[in-house]
This record gives sequence, C-alpha cells and structure tokens, in this order.
Amino acid sequence: MMRLQKFMATCGTSSRRKAEDIIKAGRVTVNGDIIKDMGIIVNEEADIVLVDGTKISIEQKKRYIILNKPRGYITSAEDQFGRSTVMDLVEDIPERIYPIGRLDYDTEGLLLLTNDGDFACSIAHPKNNINKVYIAKVIGDINEKNVEKLKKGVIIDGRKTASAKVSVLNIDGKTSEIKIVIHEGRNRQVRKMFEAVGCRVTDLKRVAVGKFNIGSLQLGKWREFTKAELKYIEDYKNGV
Ligand code: URA
Repeated sequence: MMRLQKFMATCGTSSRRKAEDIIKAGRVTVNGDIIKDMGIIVNEEADIVLVDGTKISIEQKKRYIILNKPRGYITSAEDQFGRSTVMDLVEDIPERIYPIGRLDYDTEGLLLLTNDGDFACSIAHPKNNINKVYIAKVIGDINEKNVEKLKKGVIIDGRKTASAKVSVLNIDGKTSEIKIVIHEGRNRQVRKMFEAVGCRVTDLKRVAVGKFNIGSLQLGKWREFTKAELKYIEDYKNGV
C-alpha cells in the first residue's frame, strides 16, 4: 500500500511532485474513478491505476534462470496427469517465471526460465536461429553415411530439417555418443532426426542454448545468470 503519487513515481510515470500536478489535472483514475485529491492510498497489487488512459504498474524484478532439468519432469506450468513439472524445481522464486521453449519428459539438460517476455521471444523466435546443442546416445554404431544425412537434413513429419552440425564423440560397440547442433525447435526434433536414419536415442541431454551453457550445474539444480550472461542479454536487446 502506498500513496498514489509515490506509486506513480515508483512506476516511472514522473517525479512525485509532477505526479501531484498530473493528479490535480484529473488525468489519473483508480479503479475507474477520476482522483483529484492527494491523500489517496493505493494497493499496488490490486488497484487499477490509469494515467491518461494507460495502465501503470510496478515492474517485477526480471529473473533469468538456468535449470538442469532431470528426466521425469514435464516442461509446463501444470500437468493434467499430475506429473512433476519443471516449476517444482524452481519453487523458491517468487516472480512468475516460465520456461523458454521445451524439453521432452525424458530429455535432460539446459532449460532457460524467465519473466522477461522480450528475452523469451528473442531466444525462441525461429528467425534468430539460436543454436541448441544436444548430446545424444544412440543404440549401435553410427556410420559416416548417417552422420552426413543428419548434417544435410532429413525428412521428419513430412518436412526436411535445416542443416545441422554433427560430430561423433564416442563409439563403444554398443552405443554411439553424438553431439548435434540444431537451430530449429521442432517437436521431438533430435529423436525424430535419429529415427529418420534408423537410430534409436536412449539418452538425450541439451548442453547449450546460444551463449548459455550447462557447465557444471548439477542435475535438478538451477542458478541465476552470471554477470556476463546478463550483459549479453542487454547487448542483445540493444542490438550490439
Ligand atoms: N529434441 C528432442 O527430440 N527432444 C527434446 O527434448 C529436445 C529436442
């Protein structure tokens, strides 16, 4: 609860003194009523304050989180079948954050969460071609021909995937470990790409999205962005 002119100043509408002039001029409504006297107290959560017809509000603190998602969690705020969601892993954050994009129930790894809509849009928007790096374990030995096919693009759901970077990290006779970098975000894309060349993925982990890396973050744990990562967002927004 706070005085109307303080609320206006906190929202960045004007200085407190200037706010008084704006109020006197009849340019402010609270819950639909024009307010012209100075003493009024507003509830910053519940009351609707308009200045010249535009709603003002106190900015929520912007939060930027990297979570190392384990298997067995769905990437959404709620699940109709009562399964655990990634939000269960970031419960101690009071702001209303949400995941950027999604990882399958049985995929592990890097998931970004934020309450900054502009940042979320710019990371998720296909036109920005943000790279996503995955490590996939597949059954059997992957051969050079299949690696080439994955690189050039394969047909999934009736449409060819864009070119990808693919490198084989390890082959032990039973399984192959492969790093694949894609910039599209189609449904179960990596699993379907491997299926298209006859390989079944048994483990899938996302290790990076754009500049953001999972690093040594433990499974099920989250961290805030580092200073360097926050600076990157600012530069990115400012088009540096
Ligand atoms: N590709 C997949 O197949 N699954 C994911 O969770 C992400 C990308």
